[in-house]
Amino acid sequence: MGVRPLTEDIFQVGSIDWDRTLFDELIPLPDGTSYNAYVVTDERCALMDTVDPTKTHELLANLTELDAEIEYIIAHHAEQDHSGSIPAVLDIYPEATVVTNPKCKTLLMEMLHIPEDTFMTVGDGDTLSLGEKTLEFIYAPWVHWPETMFTYVKEEQVLFTCDFLGSHLATSQLFVEDMEEVYNPAKRYYAEIMMPFRTSIRSHLEKLDSMEITIIAPSHGPVYDTPSPITDAYKEWVSDAVKNEVVLPFVSMHGSTRDMVDYFIDALMRRDITVKPFNLTTADIGELAMSLVDAATVVIASPTVLTGPHPRAVYAAYLVNALRPKCRFASVIGSFGWGGKMVEMLTQSMQNLHVEFLEPVLVKGHPTEKEFKMLDILADQIYKKHKDITI
Ligand code: FEO
Repeated sequence: MGVRPLTEDIFQVGSIDWDRTLFDELIPLPDGTSYNAYVVTDERCALMDTVDPTKTHELLANLTELDAEIEYIIAHHAEQDHSGSIPAVLDIYPEATVVTNPKCKTLLMEMLHIPEDTFMTVGDGDTLSLGEKTLEFIYAPWVHWPETMFTYVKEEQVLFTCDFLGSHLATSQLFVEDMEEVYNPAKRYYAEIMMPFRTSIRSHLEKLDSMEITIIAPSHGPVYDTPSPITDAYKEWVSDAVKNEVVLPFVSMHGSTRDMVDYFIDALMRRDITVKPFNLTTADIGELAMSLVDAATVVIASPTVLTGPHPRAVYAAYLVNALRPKCRFASVIGSFGWGGKMVEMLTQSMQNLHVEFLEPVLVKGHPTEKEFKMLDILADQIYKKHKDITI
């Protein structure tokens, strides 16, 4: 994509991945992504992260175009979409030093086999002078690995945040021009990657509040030349506030669970509760993750397969449990033919959640009026619980 200036002395040298549709062989990328890398030029030049190994050639072409002798490679995060091209950069600049924290150094040595004598380790708050500019390193663990950190260019008030505040969005725009275009990709990114680390993220946001920041340059998606739209969005997402919403991932084999789901959707809507159903045979799990950012309640609906839940419902429960959303209430509805432990197994799968489990609704065979009434009772309960927390 070529070299693009952020400021007079700082350049984007990364790569846009227009075609990537899946991340970690798991997460759908409907808007593609980018792997941003930046060069801070000065008497000594520093490269901020690299790119995914599939795009190494673009990074190297950009470095050749920029024609800056790289003396430092700052590694904010060991995951390969940012670190994977470090060995190739070291081949071109064999005298360069990889600057990172001790945890990241260990991971880079283990995962990329970078020699130990290539590294310089830095502590939280340490600085490195490039000549006229000073890099300050800020530890920021658990966004989203234990070794993550930021770099602040003091004189330019530019903060490099790697994954933090990023978005899976391929765009020709260097800077965010319209937050509405970035909001959903950023929320999707938060939901899938950052949500389990809500508490750590809160403290990092507080740290940012105490700094003078003109530009936030993440390693995915466009750059923010006004930080508040993205930091304000994050503050809302990491807050404890939930919305009057029910997320309803479901799967049905022969229609019994589907009829329960349809009735339940209607019952919730009649109580002015927003409901977000996801048919697990076709759902984009990124959309499901995004809906979990705000919802007060999650209800999983499943038939019984052999003795337990449908595997797609197991997958949904595992995902919800792993993402650890801030929802307050949960339940299970579904059907069975002759027995099984569908409800117990799904409930057990969501033990990471700090929720109150509401009485499940389980039907033998196809639902009748009696079971539809039980769904009404569950909807009433959700309505009351939401009112109790004033949503
Ligand atoms: Fe974009 Fe955690 O890597």
